[in-house]
Amino acid sequence: MSQPKSKNLTWHEGQVARSDREKLLGQRGCTVWLTGLSGSGKSTLAVAAEKALHDRGRLTYILDGDNIRQGLNSNLGFSPEDRTENIRRIGEVAKLFTDGGAIVFSSFISPYRADRDQVREIMSDGDFVEVYVSASLEVCEGRDVKGLYQKARAGEIPEFTGISAPYEEPAAAELVVDTGSQTLEESVATLIEYLEKSGYLSS
Ligand code: ADX
Repeated sequence: MSQPKSKNLTWHEGQVARSDREKLLGQRGCTVWLTGLSGSGKSTLAVAAEKALHDRGRLTYILDGDNIRQGLNSNLGFSPEDRTENIRRIGEVAKLFTDGGAIVFSSFISPYRADRDQVREIMSDGDFVEVYVSASLEVCEGRDVKGLYQKARAGEIPEFTGISAPYEEPAAAELVVDTGSQTLEESVATLIEYLEKSGYLSS
């Protein structure tokens, strides 16, 4: 973990612990870290899974790349260094929300294995659930929901993941969801089943 620039800092404990918040909410906080190519279905899956859990009375929150890059991370682009900083900040935000007791869905390409591992590192055991939203480049490019692959192929978007920038597949994700062969409903069911069987949803 990088050392803070500031010195003379003191950690302040509150009088309400994470366990108190979780007891109040009747759930266990965690971060479901969705990683995959642009167009693989991360955001679609996050939105549908969040709705399903909300309908079951769970407190959830989505952190989404396209959204966060318009606010907190509006000063970051797509160079390797900026992507690393993007994920570092989101990891810290996800950690805070998780400490708050929420079930967080984070939806970022997060193409570098080392960056994802670093987020896992700063979170407590079991708080970080890495989900590989798997769909081949051909499938994502075929969908081209935002028209970005076409622009990237035309050379209009530099450093585009899968075309002119790398994507490193997870080596040991907790779960792989294959959106190339599953329907959205099946993917949501796979994800929620995993959270259920792993004890994240038991109050
Ligand atoms: S990450 O690589 O740093 O994790 P992030 O998930 O925040 O990326 O943002 C990806 C989104 O930004 C894509 O879904 C797409 O809409 C948009 N985008 C714009 N330029 C690029 C690019 N060069 N590479 C990938 N995505 C891009």
